[in-house]
Amino acid sequence: MEKSKEPIGKGKTAIITGGSRGIGESLVLKLGELGYNVVINYRSDSSKVLSETLAKKVEEKYGVKTLIVKADVSKYENCEEIVKQTINKFGDKIHVLVNNAGITNNCNFIDIKREDYENLINTNLMSFLHMTHLVLPYMINHSSKENQCNIINISSVAGLTGIINQVDYCASKAGIIGFSRAIALEFGGRGIRSNVIAPGMIMTDMLKIVNQDALNAIASSKVPLKTIGDVSEISEALEYIIKASYLTGQVISPNGGYFLQ
Ligand SMILES: NC(=O)c1ccc[n+]([C@@H]2O[C@H](COP(=O)([O-])OP(=O)(O)OC[C@H]3O[C@@H](n4cnc5c(N)ncnc54)[C@H](OP(=O)(O)O)[C@@H]3O)[C@@H](O)[C@H]2O)c1
Repeated sequence: MEKSKEPIGKGKTAIITGGSRGIGESLVLKLGELGYNVVINYRSDSSKVLSETLAKKVEEKYGVKTLIVKADVSKYENCEEIVKQTINKFGDKIHVLVNNAGITNNCNFIDIKREDYENLINTNLMSFLHMTHLVLPYMINHSSKENQCNIINISSVAGLTGIINQVDYCASKAGIIGFSRAIALEFGGRGIRSNVIAPGMIMTDMLKIVNQDALNAIASSKVPLKTIGDVSEISEALEYIIKASYLTGQVISPNGGYFLQ
């Protein structure tokens, strides 16, 4: 009788920033489905229950373990806490890091306050550097050509093109792409792959605050596939990246044709 194949992540550890809701929630579920023990980070008090419910669901559905860490990843010392708690619970080998946490300000670049765009850069870009800097030692210590590790960075079409009232957001998302490519070059020889997912418009809380009529007008006029994407488009891209062992330094953009690379 043929032996059933074990899930790719069985017994391995994945960390995701901003895993409480939206795209992050779908990525947590996918990581669980792939067999990883998942470290779910979130920031806001309002997401505590969401994170706990999600963790329970992943554990029950996929038989994996989870760890929830409340931390504002814009600050280095909070990122240190995530990695410390991860090592304490799951040991000193980390296999997947998904840098996902992100915010928007949606403001013109005259009225925007300095503290707001600095906070956005710290959240959307610096957190990716902090987390990667802190996790790499726990990848390098065991990764190889045969046992690869993955760093998956969530950018945006905004990082590939410009968007009005999103100067700070576009800067952060373009920065992620350069960062991710450089990591791919520097650590590819050690079995660490680094790739970007650059979603188009995906229906989450981030888009629910935008005027829905305007959003639908953009979808029908600017998106060849004429629709706003679902979070599952992004979790499918994550699964592809994790399984695609010859893929590194790339940008995958599920965007309905909104931006053509
Ligand atoms: N939705 C889209 O159309 C779209 C398109 C392109 C790219 N993206 C990118 O996809 C990623 C996820 O976006 P989303 O649409 O899922 O947004 P969302 O529904 O607003 O969720 C954002 C997530 O990030 C977390 N977060 C925000 N700031 C944080 C911080 N300082 N520390 C820790 N966690 C923090 C939030 O935690 P709390 O729940 O605790 O607040 C939440 O889990 C972002 O990087 C976003 O830029 C989204």
